[in-house]
Order: sequence, then C-alpha cells, then structure tokens
Amino acid sequence: MKVLVTGVAGFIGSNLSRKLIENNIDVIGIDNLSYGVKSQIPSGVKFFQEDIRDKQISGLFDRVDYVFHLAAKNSLIDCENNPAETHDINVNGTKNIFNISINKGVKKVIYAESSAVYEGVEALPSVETTTYPKSIYAKSKMETNTIAQQLFISKGLFATGLRYFNVYGPHQDYRRTIPPVFSAFIIKMLQGERPTIYGDGSKKRDFVYVDDVNDFHLMCMQNKLTDNNIYNIGSGKNYSIKSIYERIKSILNSDIKPIYGENFDFEAQDTLANIDQAKKIGWEPKTSISIGLKKSIDYIKENVI
Ligand SMILES: NC(=O)c1ccc[n+]([C@@H]2O[C@H](COP(=O)([O-])OP(=O)(O)OC[C@H]3O[C@@H](n4cnc5c(N)ncnc54)[C@H](O)[C@@H]3O)[C@@H](O)[C@H]2O)c1
Repeated sequence: MKVLVTGVAGFIGSNLSRKLIENNIDVIGIDNLSYGVKSQIPSGVKFFQEDIRDKQISGLFDRVDYVFHLAAKNSLIDCENNPAETHDINVNGTKNIFNISINKGVKKVIYAESSAVYEGVEALPSVETTTYPKSIYAKSKMETNTIAQQLFISKGLFATGLRYFNVYGPHQDYRRTIPPVFSAFIIKMLQGERPTIYGDGSKKRDFVYVDDVNDFHLMCMQNKLTDNNIYNIGSGKNYSIKSIYERIKSILNSDIKPIYGENFDFEAQDTLANIDQAKKIGWEPKTSISIGLKKSIDYIKENVI
C-alpha cells in the first residue's frame, strides 16, 4: 500500500508517518517546511519539499492508495493576521489536493478539519452537526468541508474529515510564537523558566494523545463507513489549562509560577468533544491524561532538553 501525507514534517504528520512505516506502508511525504521541521520526518519516508498549492506536485500521487492531508496554516494568531494567505493555503491548497487525488484515482483523502469550527457554539459537548466558526482559521477549515461535499457530488471524491481537538504527544513543535501548552509548559519548567498562560487559565480543552489519533487514522483507511463522514477526534474529557499546569508542576516537582499573558477572545472558552460517531466504528481513546503527560515529559527530557 502507498500513502501520501501532506504536512509530513509537522506534529501529526510525522507521528502518523512513523506509524504507517511501522505497518510496512510506503509513505510519500510533502511539506514546504514553513512550520515543520525536516529532522522530524521519520526515516523511510520519501520526502519532497513542495507546496500543497502547486499543481506540479500531481506526479507524486501516481499509484497512491490513500492521502492524509494535514498541511495547513494553523496558528490561530498567524491566521488572524494573514487572512488572504490562510485562505490560499487552507482552502485553495486543499482544493488542489482534492482535485489531484480525484484525477489520480486515490481511494480516499483523509483530511484535517479542526474543533475550532465549534468555537461559537455554546452547548457542550460538541457534535459534528452543529458548527459556528468565528476565527479566520476555523472559517478556512469549514470551507474545506464544503468543498469536500461539493467534490463528492460533482466528481465522486471520497473523503473523511477529522475534527481534531487538542492533540498532544511527542514531536509537538515548541518553536512557535505561541507553542502548544503541553510542550511549552514542560520545556519552560524543565529549563527553570516561567511558562506563559494566555488568559486566566480557566479555559478548558479536550486533549487527545497522538497514538490514539493514529489508531483512528488507520481505521479510516480500512473502514468504508468512514467514507464521506466527519468525526470529532477528542478524548471526551476536558481539563483547564491551569490544571494541566498544576499537574506538570507536580510531576516535575517544580515551584515555578506562571506568567499570565493576553487572553485571545477569538478562542473558545471551553472545548469538549462528543465522540459517539467515532466510537460507532470501534474507536476509543485509550491514553489517560496522566499517562499521556508522563510520556510527553519523558520524550522532552530525552530528546529536547
Ligand atoms: N495539533 C492539533 O491539536 C490540531 C488540532 C486541530 C486541527 N489540527 C489540524 O491538523 C493538521 C496537522 O496539525 P499539526 O499540529 O501537525 O500542525 P503542524 O503545523 O505541526 O504541521 C503542519 C505542517 O504543514 C506544513 N505546511 C504548511 N503550509 C504548507 C504548504 N502550503 N505546503 C506544504 N506544507 C505546508 C508545515 O510546514 C507543517 O509541517 C493541520 O491541518 C491542523 O490545522 C491540528
């Protein structure tokens, strides 16, 4: 089997490729390295530094069975500041990947949406049928959903949309303007520096461990029920940012106090996934927050610090 992964140098893409290679699947990887890190791409991946908006990449899709389309501009703050570029990468880039996949006879495109499409919905847990995107990023992700549906009707595209909640685990990039909370808190504390909590720390997030997400990725290739469906990929439990901070502090035996930074109004106060849809096809997240945190800390101690 041959699988093409866009965004292969990123957090989810590099973890997914590792898993695919462990399963003896040939992996072609595309990334323009705008955010991703080349050294994170697992050995065994045939890597091409290319842009998803480029029509010339179609040759890379020859004899590809499945495409995982993960490449995106996904920093909320960068997207707010650059709406035109966000649209170009997230919407036009995705359209290009869908069209090439159709022309090359790819069996299915499994593509990344986001839990951000629920940011304006007050009722929790979020169900796939009720969305209210507010930020530039969320709107761009919602648009990919509309395009997937249109291309199914007009050209027979098979696609599965994954609305990831907060995925965490090894290889999460920490070199960003606003890094993801787990790696940001762990690295700063291990270095004896004060991590920043944006807002007052009361915002709750549904965190899901990357290995559990990969279990679902594999199911998407095998299970026809996932064709042209959308799934929430979360743990179904949420934790406040402050409580995650306290847990990390206690595991690391640290007494470092956080710095409180600006609150971002465009972000949802709380996120929580209803994962009934994903459970219907036999998926269940297995990693508890304490195990996931421990694994993340061990990885950072061994590989980053
Ligand atoms: N990590 C999460 O918790 C989360 C949550 C919701 C949605 N998502 C979505 O899942 C996908 C993967 O997320 P991630 O955390 O691995 O992100 P990431 O930023 O680590 O990886 C994205 C990769 O895409 C690449 N990229 C960006 N623009 C590109 C372009 N024009 N051409 C080619 N490559 C390009 C980047 O260099 C990067 O390596 C994204 O689409 C993201 O929006 C992730």
